[in-house]
Amino acid sequence: MKISERIRYVGVNDCAKELFENQWPLPWGVSYNSYLVIGDKVALIDTAAAGFGDEFLDNIRMEIGERHIDYLVVNHMEPDHSALMARIRQAYPAIEILTSAKAVPMIAGYQGITDGIRVVREGETLDLGGATLQFFMTPMVHWPETMMTFLQEEKTLFSGDAFGCFKAVGNAVNERFADFEDEMVRYYSNIVGKYGQTVQAALKKLAGLTLERICPTHGPVWSGEEMGQVVALYDKLSRYEGIPGVCIVYGSMYGNTAQAAETLAAELEKRGIPHVMHNLTQEHVSFAYRDLFRYDTLVVGAPTYNNDIFPPVRDFMHGVGARLVKNRRFAAFGSYTWMGASVKLLNEMAEACKFTLVSEGLSFPQGYSPEKCDMAGLADKLAE
Ligand code: FEO
Repeated sequence: MKISERIRYVGVNDCAKELFENQWPLPWGVSYNSYLVIGDKVALIDTAAAGFGDEFLDNIRMEIGERHIDYLVVNHMEPDHSALMARIRQAYPAIEILTSAKAVPMIAGYQGITDGIRVVREGETLDLGGATLQFFMTPMVHWPETMMTFLQEEKTLFSGDAFGCFKAVGNAVNERFADFEDEMVRYYSNIVGKYGQTVQAALKKLAGLTLERICPTHGPVWSGEEMGQVVALYDKLSRYEGIPGVCIVYGSMYGNTAQAAETLAAELEKRGIPHVMHNLTQEHVSFAYRDLFRYDTLVVGAPTYNNDIFPPVRDFMHGVGARLVKNRRFAAFGSYTWMGASVKLLNEMAEACKFTLVSEGLSFPQGYSPEKCDMAGLADKLAE
C-alpha cells in the first residue's frame, strides 16, 4: 500500500489469532505494521509476527520487486514485530540491521542473529539518498530497547507500539479515529498501561518534532486532525487522567454481589452519572481495564472467598496496582456468608494505589437487600 512516494505499508492483518500475547482477546483482529522507506537506498522498518512470512515477503515484492533492501530498522523486539527477522535476513543476506544497544542481545536471543548489526544512538541520522532517517530512544515504551524512527523529509514518525491499537486495518491510511478509539484504549491499558511515566517522557522528547504522519506498529497510519486526537488520547491515558464517570467492576458467585452492582448502576442512572459495568465472571478482564483507564472513579464488588477477595476480582485489583493507576476515586462492596473480608481487603489494595475512598465500603451478609447494602447512599456520595 502506497503511503507516499517514499513510504509503503507492507504490514499484515491477523484475524485468526484469538489472544494477543496469549492473554488479550482480539474480537476484531490486529495488524502487525511494517513499512518500507525508499530513497536511493531502501530501509524496512520492523517486520511482523510468525506465520506471515510468505505474505510479508509478497507485500514487500509488490512494492519494490526484486530490488534489494539495504537496512532493517528494528524499533522494537517483541516477537509480534521481530519474528520474521531471520526470514528477512535469508531473503536479503546483505541487509544491515540498525537498532538500539539494548536490542542487540534480544536479537541474538530471539533470532540467533549476531552479525551485520549496527547500534544507532540518540539523534543519529541515516541518509538513504533523498530520505533521511533519524533515531530517538524511547526506553520502556513499553520494552527497554524501544526506539522510534523519524523520516525528516516527510515529517513521519515510525513510533513502534506507541499510538497503536488492536483491530485489523482496512485501508491503513484512510481509517477514522472514532472506529478505533475503543480498541486503542483497550490496547493501551492492557499492554502499555504500566508505563505512563515513560510514555510521558517520550511525548516530551517528541514534542520538538513537527509531525505530519504517525506510522505505528499496530492499527492505522494517522495524520491531520485524527493524529492530533490519537496523540491527545495517549497523553491523557499516560497521565492516568480519567473522564468523569464510574467504572463498576465485580464478580459474583450466587448473584448477590451482582444484584448490588446492578442496583448501584440503576441508582447512578437515576442521577445522570455516566457509568459502565463489567462482570468479570462473564467478560474478559481486558475490557474492565479499558474502562478503568477511561473513567475517574472505580467501584469494585466481590464476595468473600476463603477469607479473601473472590479470585477473579482479586486478580483484577492486582492488575490495577501493577499498572500503577493513579488519581482514582474508589468504593468497594460485596457479600459474605459467615465472615466478611473482601471489602476490607479491597480497600487496602485501593489505599496502596493511593486512591481516594469515597465510602468505607458496603459489606453485607448473605442475600442482597437495600437495607443491608445502601447503594442509593453510595450513589449519592459518588454524585457529590
Ligand atoms: Fe506490538 Fe510490544 O509489540
